[in-house]
Amino acid sequence: MYRHGKEEIENVGRIVASGSWFRYYGSGSHCHAVETFEEKMSKYSGAKHILATSSCTGALISSLAAMGVGPKDEVIVPAYTFIATAAAVIAVGAVPVIAEIDETLTIDINDIRRKISPRTKAVVVVHMLGYPCNMDEIIKLAAEKKIMVLEDAAQSVGASYKGKTLGAIGDMGCCSLQWHKIISSGEGGCVLTNNESLYERAAIYHDDAHCFRGIDKGIPSFPGVNYRMSEIAGALACVQMDRLPGILADLRNVKKKIIASLVNIAPFKVAPSYDSDGDAGTTMTILAPSMVAAGSFKEKTGASSIFSNQGTNWHYYYHWDYILEKRSASGSGFPWKLGDWESPVKYSKDMCPATLDILSRSFNFGINPSASDSDVKAVADKILNGIKP
Ligand SMILES: Cc1ncc(COP(=O)(O)O)c(C=O)c1O
Repeated sequence: MYRHGKEEIENVGRIVASGSWFRYYGSGSHCHAVETFEEKMSKYSGAKHILATSSCTGALISSLAAMGVGPKDEVIVPAYTFIATAAAVIAVGAVPVIAEIDETLTIDINDIRRKISPRTKAVVVVHMLGYPCNMDEIIKLAAEKKIMVLEDAAQSVGASYKGKTLGAIGDMGCCSLQWHKIISSGEGGCVLTNNESLYERAAIYHDDAHCFRGIDKGIPSFPGVNYRMSEIAGALACVQMDRLPGILADLRNVKKKIIASLVNIAPFKVAPSYDSDGDAGTTMTILAPSMVAAGSFKEKTGASSIFSNQGTNWHYYYHWDYILEKRSASGSGFPWKLGDWESPVKYSKDMCPATLDILSRSFNFGINPSASDSDVKAVADKILNGIKP
């Protein structure tokens, strides 16, 4: 969360004073904060349907459930993402298949193609660190292979690809409003989709499958859980939505200024992007040309590569021990085993060598949307110092 102020305090105070803290009904002064957030997100993103949730993990699980993903299905996820992406697949009883990333730090279309099997039901593409995925190619391949596309835009709320808001391009998309994200309601998230039936099914799943849901649309209900957003979180989300365009404009502006200062940095490079104008601008990634160069950059700057940064270790598959070892809470081996059936999917620490190579040579610098010109110069100087021969 980058910015907050008296507007958040006032809006939360308004909801608290109303005494109506539940989204679906309340007293006479019910403020409909969650609904207002959904309307604002729909207007911003262009997605017809928005479903606010208590987290992005809940949004991902509700989306996969809406798509009908379940036992014996496979879902392709990138090797570089927060573990929640893969955990959501397991939560609906499906098997995650881990695919390589490319130098944009997003999923490699060629590895998606290689990993599609007759069991593949969907691919979750993750717009990591504000960087948009290769959406045109992904959508084309998914249509050809008849698999669904779920966008995980947890770290890229409001960013875009060729003018389209991330999360609103695939069959479904998910955003996070957890505290570390671009905008926040403390914890929170939402589902974006243009497909009414998928929206209704996600709504059914996220609301304990209340039996009234879907009836008027002819959509049968099914068991679900509770991932509803509270009105208090909705109050924060509404105000944060108003801040989103300003935050993104400032992040992108600061990032552009840093990049403009990085002249003649070859053979190092700024991580390429499938849409550098749409990029959220939260992160500046520098790619070293070799492991030796990465070692020297690390020594000169004190920065850690993504691979060696222990703080982010749940962000790439190498550390997803319970998945690599196919461990489940019950000890039954589900979703990798079910009765006599056993999934052929195999995992190992070295299964995605291209990802490990890229992450070992990549250095992330977080961007502050309120950075002054001297802050910009300090980051650029640090990077330039790191690449000096
Ligand atoms: C890529 C990605 N997906 C999903 C999540 C889960 O989001 P939440 O914490 O809102 O459940 C995160 C959160 O860090 C994330 O970074």
